[in-house]
Amino acid sequence: MSITSRTAIPSLIPRLVQAHIGTRLASTAVHFYQNKQLELYASKEANRLTLRQLVFFGRSMNEERLIKSANYVRTELPVRIAHRLRDMQALPYVVVTQEGVAKVYELYWTAFDKFRRYPQINTLEENDAFCAFLRTILDEHSTVIPSLSLGLSLSSPYLAPDRLDSFMRRMLVSRISRRVLAEHHVALSQAFQRGREGKVPSGAPVGIIHTGLNVKESIERCAAYLRSRPYDVDQDIMEGGSANLDWSEVAIDGHLETTFAYIREHLEYIIFELLKNSFRASRIKHPTVSKLPPIRATIVAADNQVTIRISDQGGGLMNSHITTPSDLFSFSHVRNATRLDDARLGALRTVSSSTRGMKATVDEQVETWRRQENTASDPRESPEQNAGVAPHPSIGIGLPMSNIFATYFGGSLELVSMDGYGTDVYLRLPRLGTNLEGIEV
Ligand code: COI
Repeated sequence: MSITSRTAIPSLIPRLVQAHIGTRLASTAVHFYQNKQLELYASKEANRLTLRQLVFFGRSMNEERLIKSANYVRTELPVRIAHRLRDMQALPYVVVTQEGVAKVYELYWTAFDKFRRYPQINTLEENDAFCAFLRTILDEHSTVIPSLSLGLSLSSPYLAPDRLDSFMRRMLVSRISRRVLAEHHVALSQAFQRGREGKVPSGAPVGIIHTGLNVKESIERCAAYLRSRPYDVDQDIMEGGSANLDWSEVAIDGHLETTFAYIREHLEYIIFELLKNSFRASRIKHPTVSKLPPIRATIVAADNQVTIRISDQGGGLMNSHITTPSDLFSFSHVRNATRLDDARLGALRTVSSSTRGMKATVDEQVETWRRQENTASDPRESPEQNAGVAPHPSIGIGLPMSNIFATYFGGSLELVSMDGYGTDVYLRLPRLGTNLEGIEV
């Protein structure tokens, strides 16, 4: 599908100009009507859910409940998209028209318009068509993160750091929330089709939620995947002439039997990024040793929280670019000067303009891993290899995205730098599933 039908939806610039400064345009009536629709949806509250509600609803499925789920997604997503479109309309003109931001605005406007026109779903056949529609939109949005990251980096000189970061956070939390709802519904529908009517057995996945997610296995799966391709995390170290690229050992200790209900792809995205950073830092700090100091992953399960601490001896986080570890989560060049690096902007441009975009590192990782069985994976089955995607350059969004994933259902990600020695990262995730999705949806 083309991104925008120009006859049905006027181009971005007039719409934004009108939204910002009220210019009267030739097609003012159309624009006015469309923005009225947007306002109507944006004025509604999002119906936020907890992880537990997603599990409880999905656990016993029948036709009526599946249709109910479809119509919830159909009516909820345009509300959530409308909030973010309004948010974008409130940005300074120089920001919304920035390469990347403008593209995302168009994508969201088109999606909003399609969802609001989508007819009520009454039958299983109609639900199949709706799932296909969702899958198409999910794919079309695969480059949203690098596009936004590029656009916001380019806009960094025009936005105060707090404003930039809070805007980006709302965009990313909301995006996760929409993808969770859409993917959960698609997964519930697939399970239903495979004949899983009735109650899902305890410990089995419910939609996209793994009710018995084994933390140790997730860490092992991420380590195995990364170990299979050290060249990817180590491009510039190789260029620096390191002779030995052996992967650090990942020693896992603590409560090794820990399981909890969570979205496996969110957990593994974070662990994957943290291990990648630890390995990279360890290799840079110890360029010539043949056996790198181990990376230690400690799992601690309390009644209401699972904590994973990842400790490395990679020298710590401080460098000339940042003054506090949390600056690494920032998209503003004021807090993190690397945001305006030419090489990074170039890499972002490449990824955001490719048709696959971030699928390789986020979405495809997420989607492919979902299909795998819940065991430590064979590295040959790694998502990027399955997708046949070559290693891509670093675009600096792993840590900010990990922070967003961690906090989405009320968890946290804390970086503690022991400068000159190493870094401890504490990932805390709620265990009971009773926290609502982030307020920013
Ligand atoms: C996104 O991926 O950015 C979305 O908003 C997807 C959603 C419309 C299903």
